[in-house]
Amino acid sequence: MSSEVLHEDANKLGPEVIDQHRAIVSLMEELEAVDWYNQRAKATSNPDLRAILEHNRDEEKEHAAMVLEWLRRGDPKLSQHLKTYLFTEEPVTEIEADIMGETGAGDGGPPAASDGSLGIGSLRPTGQVSK
Ligand SMILES: [Fe+2]
Repeated sequence: MSSEVLHEDANKLGPEVIDQHRAIVSLMEELEAVDWYNQRAKATSNPDLRAILEHNRDEEKEHAAMVLEWLRRGDPKLSQHLKTYLFTEEPVTEIEADIMGETGAGDGGPPAASDGSLGIGSLRPTGQVSK
């Protein structure tokens, strides 16, 4: 992979993880471009240039949304969290608190998965048994 950085041997990752990596890097790049255009548009004193920069910035938002949707379709846990938090109106931390109240988890952590885990997998090295 050229400009992208894998943290593990590509041969061990498989095509699905590598494509997810590509999409995540693309999402990062699109959002970074939004930030750059945003700053440039704000800084310029030329209204014609500002209009172009704002137009380009908003196209980057579309690109970000498209790749985020691709990621969501392939990642049930991400999809679950997006369904929980996106397009809501109440304070974000209250949404989490409501979920904790409903599930009885109440530990201040992220929403519980249906299996009762946090859905993040074990951080322990392979071979250790969690209690
Ligand atoms: Fe883009």
